[in-house]
This record gives sequence, structure tokens and C-alpha cells, in this order.
Amino acid sequence: MSRQTQAIIHADALLHNFKVLAALAPSSQSMAVVKADAYGHGAVNVARILQHVSSRFAVAIIEEAIALRDAGITAPIVVLEGAHQIKECKMAFQNNCILVMHCEEQLEWLDKCPKDKRPHVWLKVDSGMHRLGFSLSDIETVAAKYRHLLSDQTVIVTHFACADDLDNSFTDSQFTAFKQVADKLGFPTSVANSPATVNWPESRNAWNRLGVGVYGGAVSTSQKCDTEVYPTMTLRSSVIAVRDIAPGEGVGYGQTWVADKPSKIATVGIGYADGYPRHCKNGTPVMVRGKRAFLAGRVSMDMITIDVTHIDNVAVGDVVELWGQNVSIQEVATCADTIDYELMTRISQRVPRIVKYL
Ligand SMILES: Cc1ncc(COP(=O)(O)O)c(C=O)c1O
Repeated sequence: MSRQTQAIIHADALLHNFKVLAALAPSSQSMAVVKADAYGHGAVNVARILQHVSSRFAVAIIEEAIALRDAGITAPIVVLEGAHQIKECKMAFQNNCILVMHCEEQLEWLDKCPKDKRPHVWLKVDSGMHRLGFSLSDIETVAAKYRHLLSDQTVIVTHFACADDLDNSFTDSQFTAFKQVADKLGFPTSVANSPATVNWPESRNAWNRLGVGVYGGAVSTSQKCDTEVYPTMTLRSSVIAVRDIAPGEGVGYGQTWVADKPSKIATVGIGYADGYPRHCKNGTPVMVRGKRAFLAGRVSMDMITIDVTHIDNVAVGDVVELWGQNVSIQEVATCADTIDYELMTRISQRVPRIVKYL
């Protein structure tokens, strides 16, 4: 039998999460962000599942858009980093993509394209994240200089630095500064990612860009958040060996876990080469036979070892949930000193994605 390591993708949860987030903003439109292979879920899988509810998709780079086109996805695709070279303007036009342009060099490339073969563009404004975009003081001049490249489809875009943190006043100041400038330009705006859609109602503008929330990720630091999203990925594997360990014996590389009593250790067929984080500490939870078991020893490339001393009858072949409905991905991320976004996107190609419909 082949290795039982799989990422189960829950179609019903993806649909639920997108709909519940989009419903927060009934007077604006929302698109699913499917960059980085749809946060590790498989971009084609996710676009097929969401294409009847998300009238557009967003990706980071044009290659991601073309992969969707090759799979028959027809909705317009917003390319969040715009063009990386002049030929991408042509590719965007041919593939019905909208380029989010963040610097003059990109607009110059567009200017060189034949007038009737230019893709639609959105303009990115740096309102305080200081990553990409025209500055608040330059955007009016840029929009005037390149007016001939803009269209009735143009949208002015910005991105928040701290939208998941309800107590952080920076989001308000970023939004106020952006609004002042964007209002003068007179184009529709796109501001909210999924945390902002949940936490900052005023930022739900023409187009919301919904990423991690669609994938059941954490959208708010507030305990009171009443928008319920469900896990969309169950990462699971199986027990491939079980052994007894005497007190004082160590397990795994570096023997970082040492038995303090007679113990039972199960070896599970997943490791950091599959995307299970090597930084997960001893004690990171997993689920086996309906009970929580705990990581015992360092994560290896292809295997982990878990302490199942307290669980009866653990045997080769038992299913182990690494994260999903029973062990939250946020909990595992905390044990690895990272965030759910990173865990999802790092699941490697070695792990088959299996789409489950209810
Ligand atoms: C420009 C932009 N918009 C939207 C998103 C989606 O954000 P989130 O996954 O937090 O909803 C991202 C994600 O990194 C982004 O870079």
C-alpha cells in the first residue's frame, strides 16, 4: 500500500468560508486570493470549487494565472505584483488578467504595448506598509501622467500591515491617509484582505481580496470575532512503526526527547520534506485513535515520532491527523513559532491533495 500521507481539501468548508466572508460586504465584491497554489490547497482545485461564487481570482505572479487558464478557469485574474518584465503585459492581455502596477517602470512597459493590446491595470498605493506601491504623495502625479493607460476598470489598491490586530490604531491611520488621496483620484478602491474584511468594516470597498480566511485561517486577534470559518485542509498520515522505549532512552536526532517512564513511541510517515514544520517542539499535538498524542523527538525529513503511551492499541496503519478539525493549524503554528499561512503554503508537492466534497 502507498504511503498514507495526504492533504484533504474540504470543498464545503472553502465554499462556506468564502460565502460567509463575502456576505460581510454585501455592497462590494470579493475575490478569492489563490496565490501560492491557493495557500497550499491547489490553485486549480480551489478555483474550480469557488468559480461560481468568486467572480475574479487574485494571484501574485502571471505564471500562476496562466496555470489557471491552462486548467480552463475563465474568470478575470488580478495579478497582485503586476508585471516583472515587459512581455508579461502582453501575456496579461492575452490571458484576461489585470495587472496591479506599483512602479513607473511597469507603466512604461505598458505604454510600449500597442494601444489595442494593453491589459487593464490597477494602481497600488503604499499607504504605510512600505512594501510595494506609489507613495501617497506621488500617486496623483502618476495617475495624471499615465491617464491614457487607465480605464473604467482601474481600481486604486492598498494593503494593510496590521489588519488582524483590532487594537492596532495603525490600520485607521493607514486607511484615512489612503482614502484622502484615493477620493481625489475618483477610481474605485480595493483595500481589505480577509482580516480587514472581518475587523475593519469601512475598508470593505469595491473589491475585497480574501485570502487566509477562505482557507480557515486566523483572521482576528480578537476572542470576540463571531465570523466562523472552518478548516479547509486536513493534513494526515499514518503510523508506520510502533516500539517500546525504556526510561532514560532518547528518541530521534539529537535525542531531544527522553522517556521518563516506560513509553510507547509511534513513528508517523510525514516529515519536514512534506512541509510538516521542523521547528515543531516536543509536545506539539497530533490526533490518533480519537485522542491527542504529542510529538516526541525532532521532526525528521520523512518521519515524526509521537508519544502514544496513554493511548491503547495504537498500531501500524492508524490514521494520524497533523492538523485539521481536531488539531487546529493555529495551534501547530504556535508550536513551530510561525503562522498558519506558512504551514499551509509549505506543504510540499510530495503530498497528494485530495478534494473531498460532502
Ligand atoms: C496584496 C494582497 N492582497 C490580499 C492578500 C490576502 O490576504 P489575507 O490572506 O490576509 O486575506 C494578500 C496576501 O498576502 C496580499 O499580499
